[in-house]
Amino acid sequence: MDSILVKGSGPLRGQIPIAGAKNACLALMPATLLSEEPLTLTNAPRLSDIKTMTELLRSLGAEVSSLQDGQVQALSSHNIDNHVADYEIVRKMRASNLVLGPMLARLGQAVVSLPGGCAIGARPMDLHIHGLEALGAEIELKDGYLHAKAPGGLKGAMIELNFASVGATENIMMAATLAKGTTVIKNAAREPEIVDLADCLTKMGAHIDGAGTGTITIEGVDRLHGATHPVVTDRIELGTYMLAPAICGGEVELLGGRLDLIGAFVEKLDAAGIDVTETKAGLMVKRRGDRVKAVDVTTEPFPGFPTDLQAQMMALMCTADGTSVLEEKIFENRFMHAPELIRMGAQIDVQGGHATVTGVERLKGAPVMATDLRASVSLILAGLAAEGETIVNRVYHLDRGYEHVVRKFSAVGAKIERIKGS
Ligand code: EPZ
Repeated sequence: MDSILVKGSGPLRGQIPIAGAKNACLALMPATLLSEEPLTLTNAPRLSDIKTMTELLRSLGAEVSSLQDGQVQALSSHNIDNHVADYEIVRKMRASNLVLGPMLARLGQAVVSLPGGCAIGARPMDLHIHGLEALGAEIELKDGYLHAKAPGGLKGAMIELNFASVGATENIMMAATLAKGTTVIKNAAREPEIVDLADCLTKMGAHIDGAGTGTITIEGVDRLHGATHPVVTDRIELGTYMLAPAICGGEVELLGGRLDLIGAFVEKLDAAGIDVTETKAGLMVKRRGDRVKAVDVTTEPFPGFPTDLQAQMMALMCTADGTSVLEEKIFENRFMHAPELIRMGAQIDVQGGHATVTGVERLKGAPVMATDLRASVSLILAGLAAEGETIVNRVYHLDRGYEHVVRKFSAVGAKIERIKGS
């Protein structure tokens, strides 16, 4: 297994291009199942998760061609000859469950393995099931698979989510585009990836109002046609790289960065002493003084502080002046990066969903273990600010969500290299 060697670096200077959003692309790709006509996605990120979704869609009979070095995904599901999403693929990536809604709407049936838990939590699918059953689907759990059918087709319904689940909103919205009648999703997720999916579905002929708000209304149509759609900028990759000059000093421009995607995150950076200014090409980030100030963070559904930036923010707070409390309210076990940061000299006390971080002047490099996608990159950020060398192991987690991570950090002067594993 490869590892990443990071040496204390800084100040950082230069530009980093931000890719298309993994979490948008993983919802956009299954949308191909809703139409017999081709769907072309541009600005697609080059990530192992995209390859996994490609493998899954091909297993269902869809054609997926990766063009222009993976930046264009050309999809066509003219002939879907399999409606079973196999455990072997689904267990690798929870987002595989996003084929459930589209397959039900298009084929009237779907068998999708439950994804199983993952490092950050149990991640059940009760809200997906609640919504799809409201649309008329009959769903039964058997041998670890969800067996769903809607022989008479789906019918529009009023659906209220007791938690603004991103995946459940996406599955229900996609299914509702081909249901008979009107569907209203209340307490819908408001993430930019939901808006991006709604924009794409609308280009395919769907009738959707309210995406980005807590209430989404979908008027079902008989069929959807093909479309071409650019994947929205990845706000989590953007926020991650914004923390590099924050933790190391210097000034870095994030190409393609958009303030509207990361409002709550930028407010916290400002409070910590980081300047973020809009430029023609994106966002310029510069630390105001020699050390950031400690700030408290609570993760919430969009437009609140994103849970996917909590680990990275914790790395920054480990070097801050003062004590900060990070509260993780979205996932039940998303502090696994804390023990690894403590190995680097961080002072962190984890009590349930709260982590209290007392900043230290300097972290010390050490061998550390990546445990999940976002934790892995928080260890790199910590390593950039640490004295000496840090080796981050199990970097396959990184490859799931960060394209060309060594190239992007190196472009601004970070001392980082990938060590080929045995
Ligand atoms: C999406 O996951 C993202 N993944 C996650 O990003 C992100 O952390 C999460 O949204 C929250 O923003 C993709 O978009 C592919 P949820 P998703 O349904 O849809 C509970 C990353 O690092 N829940 O909003 O699975 C669930 O257990 C990944 O890129 C239920 O209880 O998130 C969790 O505690 C990690 N029942 C909370 O809701 C359900 O039926 C948030 O889940 C569904 C969810």
